[in-house]
Amino acid sequence: MSLYGLTKGTPLEKSVAALAQGEANGVMMYYALARLAKEQGLDDVAETLIESANQEAVHAGFYAILNGKYPKDFWALLETVKKAEIAGEKQIKALADKVRAAGFSEAADEMEIFAKQEGHHGVVIEEIFKKYNPPKIDNTGKKVYVCPVCGYEYVGDIDSEPENWTCPLCGQPKSAFQEKTKIQVKAVKFCENGFMTQPFAMGGEDGAEKFDAKIKYRSCLQNFVIDNGEEVILVDTGLPAEYPDSTFDEKTQIFIGTKIKSYVDALKDLGYKPEQVTKILVTHKHEDHTGELRSFPNAKIYIGRPDAEAMKLSGENIIPVDFTDGAYKNFPACQKIADGVYYIQAVGHTKGNSIVIVEDGDLNYLIHGDVTYTDEALYQNKLSVVFEDLAAARETLNRVREFIRNNKTVYCSTHTPLGYENLEAKRICDLDNPPKTIPPKEIVAKAATGKYICSICGYVYDPAENGGVKFEDLPADWKCPRCKQGKDKFNKA
Ligand SMILES: [Fe+2]
Ligand SMILES: [Fe+2]
Repeated sequence: MSLYGLTKGTPLEKSVAALAQGEANGVMMYYALARLAKEQGLDDVAETLIESANQEAVHAGFYAILNGKYPKDFWALLETVKKAEIAGEKQIKALADKVRAAGFSEAADEMEIFAKQEGHHGVVIEEIFKKYNPPKIDNTGKKVYVCPVCGYEYVGDIDSEPENWTCPLCGQPKSAFQEKTKIQVKAVKFCENGFMTQPFAMGGEDGAEKFDAKIKYRSCLQNFVIDNGEEVILVDTGLPAEYPDSTFDEKTQIFIGTKIKSYVDALKDLGYKPEQVTKILVTHKHEDHTGELRSFPNAKIYIGRPDAEAMKLSGENIIPVDFTDGAYKNFPACQKIADGVYYIQAVGHTKGNSIVIVEDGDLNYLIHGDVTYTDEALYQNKLSVVFEDLAAARETLNRVREFIRNNKTVYCSTHTPLGYENLEAKRICDLDNPPKTIPPKEIVAKAATGKYICSICGYVYDPAENGGVKFEDLPADWKCPRCKQGKDKFNKA
């Protein structure tokens, strides 16, 4: 029989609490004594004292259980302890630095070891979770409060606790707890009023000629930012600020629209400074997704290894990802980035292509880069003409659709206004009931400069840099020097 909470709320509670505290203090005292004994060369005494200390620790735990001092949900508590241990590593390391600066380097050395041990405790707990894979705790609709010191999470109505209630892990008062911000996904919009043709958006498998070039869909550009209250995580980083505005003609397959503002300015307008960004998840190497990777000094950049290699990225902040955290639902390989944030292998559009899924309770935000260019292609189950591995792209689209069928999903696209419209309305994607297609606005083409831009990778062809050879005069089989796409993917700049 569990002894949990046996004395809680009874006249015995106070005395048992005092015992628990006394025993915990005893642990501290015995270990301090053991240290002193060692310093005097009394190793055998130290060992005996440590034995007593460990017994005191057992007693303290026993009384804590009697009084129901800690929440009963074992896995929830363990999860909290894990977070506190991981956070503890940084805190103790910071304190060790101060101790060192004060001239106590011997003490600091030892504290640094302790800091690492705290982090290791977190890893050990993580391994327990992996081994036993307990059911996920669903806090949907419940308020969550966080202890600012140890990270302990209180689920429920904290106001219902007595005034003298304290953090069960570190003793912080109730008043110190802050309500946890819910995870938020926002669109970073930087180009508007473009279009794409149906053959471009849907002709990948059946052939572009099977589709009607007169049918055009709205296009634009936005990437996404994830804010979980602890970290600012970007999914892709737009086009480079110096990217020229493009224009179009009757042959244009995709016109990304006109620039609203630079990607970084659009992010700032949402209230985020580049220094705040801790992680960037790159869906793939194309320039409209990687343009401003350079602008985030404190961010680690996660990118599927083949795309990292194709971009020749290197440096301490680059993390070529091999997706070693196992399956995520119906996707075979993922990397967990933060609680509720998963970076998932989804090859096809490029060889290192990935998608991101953000969980908010039972709602999922699927940020997919270019798995489809417009949502109509998702609903009609068609691949675009841009891919590096057609078979893999088909498998990815199948898995994305299967995920959407089985999970409440908001589909967050890069190249269509539906991307942010879905997000802002929290529109759950229903594959059997597509929303009505809104045709693009009438847009007037701007005068061309003679330069051409690759609509896939962003390469700019400038006749001045190519011996004055006009783009129109390049041979028909000429290929984009960067992404090897044909001339037909280029737009006038
Ligand atoms: Fe792309
Ligand atoms: Fe793209």
